[in-house]
Amino acid sequence: MQHIPLAQIDPAEVERLLDRAFGPDRHTRTAYKVRGTALALPDLSFAAVADRVLVGTVQCWPVALLGDDGAAYPLVMVGPVAVDPAHQRGGIGRALMTRALTAAGLSGADRALALIGDPEYYGRFFGFTTDRTARWRLPGPVEPRRLLARGPAVPDIPGMLGSRPALDARAAAA
Ligand SMILES: CC(C)(COP(=O)(O)OP(=O)(O)OC[C@H]1O[C@@H](n2cnc3c(N)ncnc32)[C@H](O)[C@@H]1OP(=O)(O)O)[C@@H](O)C(=O)NCCC(=O)NCCS
Repeated sequence: MQHIPLAQIDPAEVERLLDRAFGPDRHTRTAYKVRGTALALPDLSFAAVADRVLVGTVQCWPVALLGDDGAAYPLVMVGPVAVDPAHQRGGIGRALMTRALTAAGLSGADRALALIGDPEYYGRFFGFTTDRTARWRLPGPVEPRRLLARGPAVPDIPGMLGSRPALDARAAAA
């Protein structure tokens, strides 16, 4: 198993893997609305490759919480983590998450991470919690128990989570 920057993989191949892991209706998910049209962060996005075949991906995105106090708090949104169904539960997802979290630590981006996902997985293995997300609003439905965050700079305030460019535009218009 090899981890390489996701940018080295054909984007169409990545999309096919995401379809297999999440189903073709994945684009309607709230996580997609949060990150908007921003590009994934290349330093924090990786592919797992086995025998030259793509078996897993992790992508991270630049987002922000536009606080009701008027300030924008930058966060990195982690995910999707996707492992090809034929290779799931073999440690690939955990290894990819560890790779992305290590890279985030090197750049300081691990000070404020957010994700939407199963607490049984992301809490148990990676310490993500709902402790500071209860007052966040999102541009679509989310189960509160699945809105998770990690890091000392995660804002525990009411506000709207969205892509950084979208929130910049909204703040400028206010
Ligand atoms: C969730 C996912 C990324 C996990 O990766 P993986 O390589 O299959 O799993 P890992 O080998 O890293 O982890 C295995 C452990 O996690 C547990 N686990 C896996 N998925 C889980 C989930 N959704 N909830 C709770 N626990 C889970 C397994 O039971 C196993 O625990 P064990 O070691 O005690 O037996 C992968 O299964 C996947 O792509 N699923 C479909 C897409 C998805 O739901 N992605 C996550 C949302 S962003």
